[in-house]
Amino acid sequence: MSEIPLSGRSQPNSASRRDREYVLHPMTELNRHLDEGPLVIERGEGVYVEDDEGRRYIEGVSGLWSISLGFAQKRLAQAAWNQLNKLPSYHMFRFKSHNPGIELAERLIRIAPAPMSKVFFANSGSEANDTAIKLVWYYNNALGRPRKKKIIGRKGGYHGVTIAAGSITGLERNHRDFDLPIPGVLHTDCPHHWRFCLPGEDEEAFATRLAKNLEELIISEGPDTVAAFFAEPVMGSGGVIVPPRTYFEKVQAVLKKYDVLFVVDEVICGFGRLGDMFGTATYGLRPDMITVAKGLSSGYLPISALMISAPIWEACLAESAKIGVFGHGFTYSGHPVCAAVANETLKLYDEIDIVAAVRQVAPVFLEGFRTLADHPLVGEVRGAGLMAGIELVRDKKTKEPFPPDANIGLFIERRCEAHGAILRALGDVLTAAPPLVIAADQIRELQRIVGAALDDTLAFARRAKLI
Ligand SMILES: Cc1ncc(COP(=O)(O)O)c(C=O)c1O
Repeated sequence: MSEIPLSGRSQPNSASRRDREYVLHPMTELNRHLDEGPLVIERGEGVYVEDDEGRRYIEGVSGLWSISLGFAQKRLAQAAWNQLNKLPSYHMFRFKSHNPGIELAERLIRIAPAPMSKVFFANSGSEANDTAIKLVWYYNNALGRPRKKKIIGRKGGYHGVTIAAGSITGLERNHRDFDLPIPGVLHTDCPHHWRFCLPGEDEEAFATRLAKNLEELIISEGPDTVAAFFAEPVMGSGGVIVPPRTYFEKVQAVLKKYDVLFVVDEVICGFGRLGDMFGTATYGLRPDMITVAKGLSSGYLPISALMISAPIWEACLAESAKIGVFGHGFTYSGHPVCAAVANETLKLYDEIDIVAAVRQVAPVFLEGFRTLADHPLVGEVRGAGLMAGIELVRDKKTKEPFPPDANIGLFIERRCEAHGAILRALGDVLTAAPPLVIAADQIRELQRIVGAALDDTLAFARRAKLI
C-alpha cells in the first residue's frame, strides 16, 4: 500500500495537521487519513477546483454528485445574499411560512415527473428518505393496517446513513458495526446484469428473475406486512448500476399487485443527470413519493425535499384530524436561504435548458468512456446521461475482482488526482458524474486523465503481482 501515491498531499502543512487533529471525516478510512492527511480544496470555478497549493483539478464527480451548475455561479451566491439580508432564517412549524419555501414547493409540484400533491422540506437526502419511511408507516396506520410496515431496499442501493434510511441502503460498508439494518427492513437483488446474470441470461430474462425474486420475498414475508419499496432510478453509490431492460416495468407490476408503495430516490438522478429532468421519466416510473436533494440547490446549500402523492397526503390529513399535530419536522425544514438558492437553481436549469445541455454532451461522455472498455483492467463501462462507472477487475474473462486489500480503487483515484482530476472510486468502480455544465472538450480532458490513470494502475498491478 505504500505505493499508493499521495497526489496533492505534499508537506504536512498546518491545515493538514489541524485537520487530522480535529476532524472526524465522513466515509474515510480513519487510520489512512491520519497517516496521509487531506486534500484541502480552496476554491472552485466552473468545473474546476483548486487545492491549497494551487493545483487545479476537474471536479469529475460534482463534489458528491451535487454541484451540477459548477462552481462560482454568481446568481446562486446573489440569491443567498439577498435572502440573508431580507429574512435570514425562519421556520415552517405551527402555521408559519415564507415565500421562498412556498415558491419552491409550487415549482417542485409543477415540474414533478409524476402527479404529486405536497412537498415536505428537509436538509439532506437521508432526512428526506427517513421522512418517506415515517410517512409510509403513518400512511398505513391511517389506513388501519398497522402490520403493513416492512420496507424493501436493494443490495447496492444507497439512500443515506441515518438510522432508517441507512438501513434501506444496501451496502455493507454503511451497516457494519453501526448495528444496521434495523428490523423490518429487507433487501432484494442488486439489478447489475453484468455482474449477477446467469450464464446466457439476457437483460430481460435477468429482470424477470429479479422481479420474481421480489415477488417471492413479498409472499414469504406476507404481503400484508410489506409496505414500501425504495429505489434509485440508476444506483449511484452502489457503483453506477443502470437498470436492465424491462426491470422497472416488471418490478412495478409486482408492487402494484401487492399494494406496496414505490418511493423513488431521485437524490442523484433528479434535475437532469440522466438526460431527463428526472430518472422517473427516463425509466417510466410511477412513484407514490419522490425524494430529491443535491441538485435541488446545485449542492450550494443543504436542502432536500420529499414529494408525496395525493393519497398519501389525504391519509396524513385524516390521521392528523384524528390525532392532532403532524408531529414531524426539522428546525431548518424549508430554510428560506436554502429555498431561495434552490429557486434560483431551478430557474437556471430552465433558462439554460439543462436537459438539452446534458443530452448534447452525454454521447461524448458515454462513448468516450466506453472506448476504455478494451483496457486490460476494465471489466465493464456503464452509465447513463452524465454518470459513468468503470469497473476494474483482475481478470476480464472471469470478472474476478481484485482482492479488497489491494485497494485498487483508491490507487486509481489518486492517480487521477495526480493527473488533474477528482474522481471517486466506489470499491473498484471508478465513477464520473461531472457538473452538468461541462463542455465536450473538458469531458475529453477528463477521459484522457482516466486513461492515463488506468495505465498507471496497470503498471502498479503488474509490479505488485496482482495480475
Ligand atoms: C441516491 C441517494 N440518496 C440519498 C443520499 C443521501 O443524501 P445525504 O448525504 O444528503 O444525506 C445520497 C447521497 O449520496 C444518494 O446518493
